[in-house]
Amino acid sequence: MKFFIDTANLSQIAEAQKMGVLDGVTTNPSLMAKEGITGAENIKNHYKAICDIVDGEVSAEVIATDYEGMIKEGHELAALHPQIVVKLPMIKAGIQACKYFSQQGIKTNLTLVFSAGQALLAAKAGATFVSPFIGRLDDISTDGLNLIAEIRQIYDNYGFETQILAASVRHTMHVIDCAKIGADVMTGPLSSIEGLLKHPLTDIGLEQFLADYRKGN
Ligand code: G3P
Repeated sequence: MKFFIDTANLSQIAEAQKMGVLDGVTTNPSLMAKEGITGAENIKNHYKAICDIVDGEVSAEVIATDYEGMIKEGHELAALHPQIVVKLPMIKAGIQACKYFSQQGIKTNLTLVFSAGQALLAAKAGATFVSPFIGRLDDISTDGLNLIAEIRQIYDNYGFETQILAASVRHTMHVIDCAKIGADVMTGPLSSIEGLLKHPLTDIGLEQFLADYRKGN
């Protein structure tokens, strides 16, 4: 399972990279705005800065909502760095652009996916990643994890190679449940990754080991 961090915050990205378990980064216009990164040039420079920190794939989202605009913007983003994955919205033009980029050998991530049907379309268009937003489904009393399970079944039925990127992951149990279902990737906040570390018996056990060592030394 790949671990992506879902942020545009450079220090959090560096922190996750330092842990040695980071496989990539996802961002979106809201996450860029949260870091105060505005304007096309600043956003592009920020993507390059992210690519300099991590070794893996970095999703960069197009703003255009028409096919021609997505193609132009997607090429500009892909040219920034070999690690860039072009992130496209799950609308008809996004599917068309996804098909185009997959034929060009440019990696894609279909975002804002909320149904198994949308995920099926993404796979048919050759998406590298599909991003079902599980937290936002949970927010409206719909089982986000169930969507991951449905997509897993459909992709396995036909051997689709599109990677299921569980997105809108909010906490550590989301990560564990996605791993149990077989999501290929999860993207979440740094806290969702760091939460995997925690167990009181680990802390108590370590304290005891060190206390016993100190007794004899
Ligand atoms: O990974 C998608 C993400 O950025 C949306 O997360 O927490 O705003 O639903 P959230």
